[in-house]
Amino acid sequence: MKHAKDKRISAVNQDFSRYDQVKKDQLYHLAEGADEEQFDTETEIKSCDMSLFFHGGEDGKQQFAQELGQAMAGIGFVVLTGHGVDPALYRQAEQKVCEFFKNTTLEQRLKYKAERHGSVNQGYFPMKETTIIHPDLVEGWVFCRRAFNIGENPAYREEEFWPAPGYEAFFRKIVLEHEKLILPIMQSILRYLGCDPHLYDDKFTKTNFGFRLNYYPPIGKQDLESGAGRMLGHEDVDFFTILPAQSVDGLQVLNRENMKWIRLSPPDGSIILNTGDYMQRISNDRLPSTTHRVGKPVSKALFGKPRVSIPMAVYVWEEEVLEVLPGLGEPKYEPISAVKFHTRITSKYYGDDYAVDSDRT
Ligand SMILES: [Fe+2]
Repeated sequence: MKHAKDKRISAVNQDFSRYDQVKKDQLYHLAEGADEEQFDTETEIKSCDMSLFFHGGEDGKQQFAQELGQAMAGIGFVVLTGHGVDPALYRQAEQKVCEFFKNTTLEQRLKYKAERHGSVNQGYFPMKETTIIHPDLVEGWVFCRRAFNIGENPAYREEEFWPAPGYEAFFRKIVLEHEKLILPIMQSILRYLGCDPHLYDDKFTKTNFGFRLNYYPPIGKQDLESGAGRMLGHEDVDFFTILPAQSVDGLQVLNRENMKWIRLSPPDGSIILNTGDYMQRISNDRLPSTTHRVGKPVSKALFGKPRVSIPMAVYVWEEEVLEVLPGLGEPKYEPISAVKFHTRITSKYYGDDYAVDSDRT
């Protein structure tokens, strides 16, 4: 017997536009469809060498800022090289994520089902439950800053956040490495926009983040027939996302110039960086939040392999206020508390009662 097709699979982003807190004109299907899709094979995602920032003196910082800013203002995705994070760490991470999801039982994982902490929905997202608007073929887990033992909470207990020992210590290394990149990236973006590069230094010191482990199991026959995508088309809610390159392809970015999807194939050891809604809001639409999704790998030979990704979304703490940066023209947006902004958008994914309407958390 054939199952009735899940209506959510044919949904488009504009069905949910009432939740958006920045202007988004683009129209796209949440899931990668079979025939109607168009791919952009011409446009290249730019690479930016971060060693210019770290070792290139004032000129290097200036050059990196221009290159990064232009890429962010265009496609909104960039491949970072020269970032200084050991690529061996990323290779180990793929292994660790697979172990994490395979060596724990569903029952163990369900004890940590995601709940709102401040702005962030932290914890476990079962298969097909990453959002309520599309049955994504992925299991995920979000850890925010409080889930890591980084010496800021004397009452910290690992078992409060992690279903098995050993993983926190490993992933903490990655989070701390990525934390070193946050200020250089933001300072470069602010420099490109003509603002004081240090305007966000305080807000981004020990700031909150959402570090996500995504485990996409091998694609079976039923999954293929369902038409569901691995991860729905979306824009990140954050300032920017730091995403190490994955060994199994599938990430696609929407080119808003021609409304075709670009398949990313970044080199091993590189980091993909993209802008999100917070950035679009404070940059007065100069740096748009970028639409992306995860489809099936190009080669069917990879359907039998799991796919792993570990994006880190950079936020400010929920009581901060998001204001359009100075010198970027007449503000198109009112100041808004981060928690209101964040949860109004994400109630699209988690239900209307997720939204926090007061400025308190
Ligand atoms: Fe994303």
